[in-house]
Amino acid sequence: MIPREVIEDIVARSEIEQVIGSYVTLKRAGSNLNGLCPFHSEKSPSFTVFPNTQSFYCFGCSAGGDVITFIERAEHLDYIGAVEFLAARAGIDIPQDGKGSGPGRKNELTRRRVCEMNLAAAKFFRQCLFDPAIGGEAMRYLSEQRRLSGATIKHFGLGYAPATFGMLTDYMHKLGYTDEELITAFLCGKSQKTGRAYDYFRNRVMFPIIDTSGNIIAFGGRVMDDSKPKYLNSSDTPAFKKSRNLFALNYARNHCEEFMILCEGYMDVIALHAAGFENAVATLGTAITAEQARIFAKYTKKVIISYDSDEAGQRAANRAMQQLGEVGIDVRVLQMNGAKDPDEYIKLYGADKFRRLLSVSRTGFAYKSEQILAKYDIETPEGRIAASGECCQLISEYNSGVEREVYIGQISQRLNLSTDVLKGRVDQLLRKRIKESREAQSRRAQADIRGVGDRINPDTIKNVQASSAESVVLGLLMIFDEYRSSVLSGEVALCEDDFFTAFGKRAFTAIMELQKAPTGYAHALLGQNFSPEEMGRLQQMEQQRRALSRNGPEVFRQSAAALKDAKARSDGRASEDVLSSIADILARKAVKNSKNTPAQ
Ligand code: CTP
Ligand code: MN
Repeated sequence: MIPREVIEDIVARSEIEQVIGSYVTLKRAGSNLNGLCPFHSEKSPSFTVFPNTQSFYCFGCSAGGDVITFIERAEHLDYIGAVEFLAARAGIDIPQDGKGSGPGRKNELTRRRVCEMNLAAAKFFRQCLFDPAIGGEAMRYLSEQRRLSGATIKHFGLGYAPATFGMLTDYMHKLGYTDEELITAFLCGKSQKTGRAYDYFRNRVMFPIIDTSGNIIAFGGRVMDDSKPKYLNSSDTPAFKKSRNLFALNYARNHCEEFMILCEGYMDVIALHAAGFENAVATLGTAITAEQARIFAKYTKKVIISYDSDEAGQRAANRAMQQLGEVGIDVRVLQMNGAKDPDEYIKLYGADKFRRLLSVSRTGFAYKSEQILAKYDIETPEGRIAASGECCQLISEYNSGVEREVYIGQISQRLNLSTDVLKGRVDQLLRKRIKESREAQSRRAQADIRGVGDRINPDTIKNVQASSAESVVLGLLMIFDEYRSSVLSGEVALCEDDFFTAFGKRAFTAIMELQKAPTGYAHALLGQNFSPEEMGRLQQMEQQRRALSRNGPEVFRQSAAALKDAKARSDGRASEDVLSSIADILARKAVKNSKNTPAQ
């Protein structure tokens, strides 16, 4: 048994939008987030995450629940497995059998311990860099070749990992860290032959990766020549997930009111900060993830993508644009000529020129439409027709009428076509898109009505009225503490027997059992008693109530009364049925008897 406080702590530290965000690309819609459901196949998003209630629900397939339910389904784990999974993700120890807060699973290092080791290692790397006998060449590389000032080197905590297999390992051993710990923290590799730890980063300049709380969570290490691989990065550890962090966010977060700059390389970020652009960050050796896009959304409204000017960089920019657009960020793309990346650009042309590039960076639409126009020869009729078709398609994907209008104007000028013609085409495409999404929705609704049998609560069809009253009561009970209290105190008389379906009875009992416990009800604990599918049904009941504004005490009392009433009538009907069949039997017997009775 995992103690309840621990489960609650784990849930509290597993923000549902972040957890789900690493599985599903979510797009903000008001206070909620939408995305394509990971549990069934769909083209338009009916999967919704509700940050306010830390829950999710798919209006397409009725999957739903809390963060634990989500992990149960996504990772195919049971309740305890999902809780452990989230604990590891959040770096929380699960105490075994109430033995206090010792290490949860054997060998699993906590986040704190890894950060501690990283800090010690960063100090070691820095000492090496500043020791001319060890780090002389590295220091020359950074200051002469890369032209970094001493202040910048210190600001970013740069270091040097010496070209030996044991210097860091020995140093860390002296501080009391074991081989096993060093390997888990990715500071050391494990020798195939001896199983012992050896220095993982060798002869590289070291870039610590620091989170927004100032912890060193990982390292990147760059060679100083053209050998491969150019960078080595820490793999994911209990303290680090590369998809969830950004390089230099610890500094950039204080300079991002207006906008942030996203670049590809660590060196770009460092050069930009040194030149006064302290709002620059980079991903950690991967394409931008949905989680990282949401980090941006948390800190800023606008992001200027300054990727490398080569083709790979521009392709990556397209993806980044999409990810950032999906979380509602105003995305711009910087166009850089005459240099391969921001680092080189600033060295060649200076900070002022770069500032100018930022100010003329283009919106996503300008960038994408330029790409379309560049594909065609717009001097020829065929070229204009093809280009206008693609541009209209692009414009029809914008949901805002104002945006569409503005873009139509721009394209009309570029292609010398009337806005009416373009608008006609865009509207046509837009109608098609809306129709398709409506059709998909109604297909889903019809599938729901046909019911394909209710596997979770098969009793529902036996009495639709009683079952729906039941859902209302359960929904309200799960949302409102006061209704649970009023049932517990007997103020509203309600018992298991009042519920119609077997599932409803179980749910009611489980909710009230939790309420009775000295520590009270907690939704996160409900999952102990129900399968993820059943949790989905409970979530649906909550969802239906939350969608309505009338949920006051009178609604609760009336629904409870309606439930009792429907149940009583249904029981009554059953007894009437029994009576009438008894009457029937008696009547038939009577007929038989009369037949058997000889005529008098
Ligand atoms: N990267 C990586 N592994 C590699 C190459 C690159 O993890 N083998 C990541 C690093 O985070 C790097 C980023 O991708 O910072 C961008 O790569 P690149 O532009 O090649 O590196 P820069 O940091 O810009 O280095 P430099 O300008 O010194 O070439
Ligand atoms: Mn680069």
